[in-house]
Order: sequence, then C-alpha cells, then structure tokens
Amino acid sequence: MIIAQISDLHLRTDGRLLKGKVDTMAALNAAIKHLNNLSPRPDLVLATGDLVNKAHEQDYEIMRREFDRLEMPVYVIPGNHDDRDMMRQHFTDQGYLGENGPFLQYALEDYPLRLIGLDTKRDNHDGGEMCTDRLQWLDDTLSSEPDRPTLIFMHHPPFVSGIGFMDKRPFLNADKLETIVKRHPQITGILCGHMHRPISVAWGGTIACVAPSLVFQMTMDLTPGAASSFMLEPAACPIVLWNEDHGMIYHCSQIGPYGDPNPFVVDHL
Ligand SMILES: [Fe+2]
Ligand SMILES: [Fe+2]
Repeated sequence: MIIAQISDLHLRTDGRLLKGKVDTMAALNAAIKHLNNLSPRPDLVLATGDLVNKAHEQDYEIMRREFDRLEMPVYVIPGNHDDRDMMRQHFTDQGYLGENGPFLQYALEDYPLRLIGLDTKRDNHDGGEMCTDRLQWLDDTLSSEPDRPTLIFMHHPPFVSGIGFMDKRPFLNADKLETIVKRHPQITGILCGHMHRPISVAWGGTIACVAPSLVFQMTMDLTPGAASSFMLEPAACPIVLWNEDHGMIYHCSQIGPYGDPNPFVVDHL
C-alpha cells in the first residue's frame, strides 16, 4: 500500500502571490501532476491541513475541482487556516467526513492499513489541541480494532520541533494524546503537517513525521529565539510505503523540474 501526503497548500485563488512570493495554484498543479505521474501510483492522498490560506468559499471550490483531477482518492483534515463548515460543504459528498458534528475526524476502514484522521484545530488560535471529546473518540476508535495496523494523520504535531518560533504555541493536551497513543501498539506511525519542514520524532512509542509544505518551508534555524522566516526551498510530498511484513517506510519525493531518471554510466578517470 502506498500513501502520499500533501500538506500546507495555503491555496489562494485571487491571483495574488502568497506572502508576495509564491504562486500557490501553480504549486498545487505541480503536485497533482507529480502524484499522477508517480509509478507505481499511490493508492490515496492525505491532505493534512492548511489547505487554504484565508478560508474563502472560492478557494475550497477551486481546490475540490483541482483535487478531482487526482487519479486516486484524497482525504482532507483541517489545519489552523481552514474552516470546518466550508470543508464540509465542499467534501461531504465523498462520504468520509460525516454530515454534522463539531469535528472533522474519521477512520478509513477499507484499506489494508487502517487510517485515522484527527481534527487538531483549536478555534481562534493557531496552535493545536485535542479536547476531551476528541481524545475519547480516538481512544474508543483505536480500542474497537486493537489488532489492525493503524496510521494516524493530523495537522498539528503534538511535540516540539526545536524551531523556536514554531514551538511558541503549545499543543493543548499533547500529554494526554501521547498516553492514548502509547496504549495502542497497533499504531505504526503518525503523519503531521503545520511545521513546513520535514521532521521525524520518536514519540508515544511510535514514529511521528512532519511533512514539508507544498508552498514554502520554515527557515532551518535551531537558534533559540530565532526570528520567524521562511525559505523557498523545494516543495515535497511524503510517500509512505506500508505492508504487513516491513511496516511503515517513509520516503519524501521532491516536486520540481528535475527531469527524467538518469541511467548510471561508468565515470572514467
Ligand atoms: Fe501551514
Ligand atoms: Fe498550520
């Protein structure tokens, strides 16, 4: 089973550049082309939040139209930039989001690897959260299938990154979430977004990986107190290979004009 992840698209469809620098529609188009051209093709795509930059109806409408060009199903969860009601409006017909309820979290049961999407959005705040209701739902959902290998995907990472300006807003109830994750050894891994950098952490008795963004990356600066800034480093999408024998193998595929594969030739001295 092959799972692709796209994260932090921050789509704006008003023709303006994101932060005066990034054509987010072009970035989305490049990602769609990249995913459709992968061989073998991923079985599905997880879109892990910050789908749009300012949550306008038009952005989700165009995003849905663009996602429909993907040759595999795509599953969305919200980030801090997203609007749950607008997401529901534009993605509910696909059946997995549910038609009501306060949160957009769900389990996908039809794949060899069970997939659980979490809603970590904290209202009127950029940081992440798992409230009591969401934690209970996760614990119950994991408890109902203790023997099925399970991958969790969510927007906010529930751990620090070491990039000071990204760690300023703590994830509420990260300790309670970690206790639940530790209690369920069927969890093979956790995929996150939000940090706009590839990061891997041993957390909760499993491995948690943060995806790069499709549009810009946070500056690689581990100096305590470093000012916030971003870099136009390449966009990339994680590609997760999973089967029962080897478990989860995490790759990252860069999106860009890098041409076709080059055959190895002998280098003459
Ligand atoms: Fe983001
Ligand atoms: Fe975010």
